[in-house]
Amino acid sequence: MDQLNGRTALVTGAASGIGLAMTQAFIAEGMNVVMVDVESDRLEKAARELRASGANIITAVVDVSKAHQVQSLAERVDAEFGPVHLLCNNAGVEVIGATWEQTLDDWRWVIDVNLWGVIHGVHTFLPRMRASGQECHIVNTASMAGLSSAAYMSSYNVTKFGVVALSETLYKELAHEGSKVGVSVVCPGLIKTHILESRRNRPGDHPDEGTFGEASQGFRAALSAGVQSGYEPAEVARQVVEAVKEGHFYVIPAQEQVFKGALTRMDDIKHGRNPTVR
Ligand SMILES: NC(=O)c1ccc[n+]([C@@H]2O[C@H](COP(=O)([O-])OP(=O)(O)OC[C@H]3O[C@@H](n4cnc5c(N)ncnc54)[C@H](O)[C@@H]3O)[C@@H](O)[C@H]2O)c1
Repeated sequence: MDQLNGRTALVTGAASGIGLAMTQAFIAEGMNVVMVDVESDRLEKAARELRASGANIITAVVDVSKAHQVQSLAERVDAEFGPVHLLCNNAGVEVIGATWEQTLDDWRWVIDVNLWGVIHGVHTFLPRMRASGQECHIVNTASMAGLSSAAYMSSYNVTKFGVVALSETLYKELAHEGSKVGVSVVCPGLIKTHILESRRNRPGDHPDEGTFGEASQGFRAALSAGVQSGYEPAEVARQVVEAVKEGHFYVIPAQEQVFKGALTRMDDIKHGRNPTVR
């Protein structure tokens, strides 16, 4: 989709981090943006600032893990803004802890937001895009955790491998039917965002009862240092805009980190080795 100007993007997780940076980049390209998030204060503040510079935005407080909320969102956007040309399923959360330390509620929350959130977005908006006959594009945010499995992140890894699998499958199916709908998957390394504070958005129906041991806490501290010194979200957004315009599927910001894990995993498989423990 090389023409973005005047078209409409919908971004989930738009109040913070990568989603906010994508919103800013799309506005700079002349797009209208539907900013979607669960965190209403942060969402409205970000939208106010962007509107002050003339951006055409609507905001929607929607929990992407709830199918009916995503369905109502699509109906509202159809009525108020018209068709969505660029859908970014980006909202995500994490729980860090050894597999045996994560509660079933931890698993449900992470899978509901990171995997079901993307499924809900695709299921709701893809039929509209295919029926429109217009050029459209779907961008799903996975992670380097969708290409190799770090320890202490099992629920997160499961969801991100799922998002990569969904995106690759969809890409092949749409290419096979000669569709005008493109797909990209974003698999970043460490990016300077608020991802490690995701518990701020954990709803009450998912009690946070995890108790994490020393090894998990050590991993979280190391990850936190990595995120704080990570790449800027604007760099991810720049690569997403380029991928949408040029029709690239894999978007790999901070690729030296991503390739290290992914290629080691492939080598392990190829050479019949057990997984490398780092
Ligand atoms: N930061 C990194 O290092 C990194 C690396 C790889 C992938 N990612 C992925 O990037 C995406 C964006 O995360 P980020 O790093 O910008 O973190 P972030 O916490 O800064 O932003 C995530 C946004 O998602 C929103 N959100 C959370 N649950 C939601 C829900 N149920 N419905 C709607 N919105 C919800 C949050 O309120 C927040 O605004 C996530 O999918 C994350 O897994 C991040």
